[in-house]
Amino acid sequence: MNRRKFIKKTFKWGAGLGVLTGLYSWQIEPFWMEFVHVKMPLKNLPKELIGKTLMQISDIHIGNSFDYQYIIDSFKEAQQLKPDFVVYTGDYVSYDDNEQISQLQEVLKYVVTGSLGTIGILGNHDYGIDYAEESVAKSITKCLETAGITVLRNKAIELNGLNFIGIDDLWGINFHPEEATKKYDASKANIALCHNPDVCDLPVWNNFKGWILSGHTHGGQVKPPFLPAPMLPVKNKKYDAGKIDLEDGRTLYINSALGCLLQVRFNVRPEITLFELMREG
Ligand SMILES: [Fe+2]
Repeated sequence: MNRRKFIKKTFKWGAGLGVLTGLYSWQIEPFWMEFVHVKMPLKNLPKELIGKTLMQISDIHIGNSFDYQYIIDSFKEAQQLKPDFVVYTGDYVSYDDNEQISQLQEVLKYVVTGSLGTIGILGNHDYGIDYAEESVAKSITKCLETAGITVLRNKAIELNGLNFIGIDDLWGINFHPEEATKKYDASKANIALCHNPDVCDLPVWNNFKGWILSGHTHGGQVKPPFLPAPMLPVKNKKYDAGKIDLEDGRTLYINSALGCLLQVRFNVRPEITLFELMREG
């Protein structure tokens, strides 16, 4: 083969591979949910909760940017696992206008619930345009509560042996984390819910020790193999996805999102996390 033929052939193969990668990133991976299993050792876990499951669902982003029948199908699959607790860590919608409220209601007919409790917090997108509309946050909260999700807006709730501390979103207009973290009690089994992991670096934690469950980053949605995700909406670029030991008694877990903003994913599959509760120490 002469050089010109070789270049031509390589170019053809390269173009073909590019088209396939594009199709995969657009039509396959955004809808290829995986259940990620993680062990969660907790201090002061009541004996009867050992081996129970806590499911985390995050960033479903209901709206017009992708076909949300996929979220409904994923919810049906998730409910079959019969989780004991379910937590939702924000961004229920990609908000354009009130249409998303009715779309969310439609999806919430299939809401995944835990037999021992179902808790949620809000994310930045749940605050409407410019993340600054309290009326939108209120409408979404109402939809969630009607569906059986207890929404914590800078509040804590003790539920069947777990103390959930729910922080409202950093980029929204109701970020008062100390109101939630003042409910931290070292003698309980505490789990904090906090949409944006950047909050971990703020001095608002009241000496909290334990797990913090976040979302928000979507794992970057697109990640070249062996390289960091180039697009992460956080200040601290260490906060991309998965389990991160903050080395001060806190363990952060960042869920890679079930939905997406733009319908494109590569090397960051959508996720539902299933934690198995264990006793620490
Ligand atoms: Fe999000």
